[in-house]
Amino acid sequence: MRSFASFVLLAVLASPVLAQTPTVSLLIDNGFPSSGTLSIRSVLNSVATRKGQTFHFGSTWDTSYSSAEASWMTNVYNTFFNHMVAENGCKWSATEPTRGVSSLTQCLGVQSYAVARNASFRGHNTFWHEQLPSWLPGSVTASDLVTNVIPQHVQQEIQGMGAGVTSWDVVNEIVGDGVSNGMCVQNKNDWPTKTADGSGTNLVTDLSFLHAAFTAALQYAPSTTRFSVNDYNTSGNDAKTACMFALLADINANSAVPYNRLAVGFQSHITAAPGQFTAKSDLANTFAKLAALGATGMITEMDVKLSDTSSASERYQAAIWGDYIDACLYASNCFEFINWDPRDDLSWLGASGAGTLFDTNGNPKPAAYEVAARLQRYASGATELCATALGTSQCTVPAGSGSSTSTGSTTSASTSTSSATTTTTPTGPTGCASPMWGQCGGIGWAGCTGCSSGTCQVANAYYSQCL
Ligand code: XIL
Repeated sequence: MRSFASFVLLAVLASPVLAQTPTVSLLIDNGFPSSGTLSIRSVLNSVATRKGQTFHFGSTWDTSYSSAEASWMTNVYNTFFNHMVAENGCKWSATEPTRGVSSLTQCLGVQSYAVARNASFRGHNTFWHEQLPSWLPGSVTASDLVTNVIPQHVQQEIQGMGAGVTSWDVVNEIVGDGVSNGMCVQNKNDWPTKTADGSGTNLVTDLSFLHAAFTAALQYAPSTTRFSVNDYNTSGNDAKTACMFALLADINANSAVPYNRLAVGFQSHITAAPGQFTAKSDLANTFAKLAALGATGMITEMDVKLSDTSSASERYQAAIWGDYIDACLYASNCFEFINWDPRDDLSWLGASGAGTLFDTNGNPKPAAYEVAARLQRYASGATELCATALGTSQCTVPAGSGSSTSTGSTTSASTSTSSATTTTTPTGPTGCASPMWGQCGGIGWAGCTGCSSGTCQVANAYYSQCL
C-alpha cells in the first residue's frame, strides 16, 4: 500500500502547479532585440554561408488570404521569411479533383507568389489520408491504386510543378501511432488504400502503394529535389520514431531512392508544456541518426500551442522555439524550417491557440525575436546554447552572449553548459546607396549602407532604413 508521504508526493506531482510554465532564460534578455522591426533576410544569407547551403526558413501561405492579410504577408516575406509552403493548395483534393485531371492552379499560384518574393518553395503533399478528392477512396481495385492511381497522381503533381521545389512530402502521416501493425503504418479508415464499401478491409495490405509513390517521385522530379516522409511525433527517442527509420530503410530498399534524396519532415505541432515536445537532445540525436544514413531532417510545420498569453507562457514558447531552431541549425543535415501559419489569427489552431510567431495584430512575439536572435547568433559562428526549454534550473543563457550593436565588436561568454562567441556581421559594401525607405544597415545586413535619398536611420539593431 502507498504511504501517505508518497500519496502527497503523487498529489503534488499530479497537480497543475508542477505543470506550470518554467522560468526560462533567453537571448532576447541578453542584448538581442525584443522589440521593433524584425529584418532577417540577410541574416538568413549569413546562416547559409555557415551551413554551406541555402537555409530555408519559412511559413505557410493559403490562397484564401484576404488582400489585407496578403499585404501583411508580403511585408513579412520581404523582411523575415525566405521560404514558403502551400497550406492547402498542393494537397490531393486541390490538385486532382477529377481522376486523371491535373489541376495545379493553386499550387502553382503559391509557388509564383514565393518566387515573386524571392522565396523558395516546398511541396506539401502528394499523398495523405486527409483532404483527398471526393472520388477517393472510391471503387478502385488494389492493383489499379498501386499501378495507376497513386503513381499517376505523384507523377502529374511532381512533374507538373517541375524544378524549384526544394522538397516534396511524398507521403504525409503514414507512420502508425501504435506500432503493433506489421506494416508499421497508419491504419486510417480514410486512406485511399481502404475500400469505400464499409467493410473496413484493407484494400492494399502491404507497402506497395508507398513504393509506387516514391518510385514515381524519383523518376519525375529534378535531381535536386528531396523526398520526405512527413509526420508528427517522429523526432524523439521512441517506438514511433524507430518505425520511421524502419520505413525509410524500406523505401530506400524498395523504391531505390538513395538516402541522400530522402528526408524526414518533423511536423512539430507541439504544446508549451513540459513533456509535450521533443527535448533538444533527442532532436539532436534524431538528426544525427539521419545524418549517419546520409539523409536529411527538416522541421516542417512548427507551431507551439499556448494555454494563455501571459508573458511567462510566451517566453516559454520562445525558449521551445529556440531549442527547435537551434537543433536544426546545429545539425549538419537540416536546411528547411517551416512555421505552420504565419500569424495567430491565420493559424489552423485558431487565434486562441496563440501558436505562431506573430500575434493577431501581426506583431512579432517573443518567439519571433528569439528565433531571429538564434539565427543571428548561429550566423556569427557561435557555439550552440544549452536547452533553454529546460528552464533556468538547467540552462541559463550566458550574460553578454547578445550582440546588440553593429560596431563589429566581439564578445565571448561561457557557462558550465555552453560557451559562446558572438561576432557582429560586417557592414555591407560602401559606395552604393539604398533608395528612400530601403534598408541601409542592421545586424547581418550585407547590402548598401548609404542612401540615395534621405539619411540612414537606426530603427533597431536589425534594421536601419533610409528616411
Ligand atoms: C491543415 C491546414 O492548416 C488546415 O487549413 C486544413 O483545414 C487542414 O490541414 N498536418 C499537416 C497539414 O500535414 O497539412 C495540416 O494542415 C495540419 C496538420
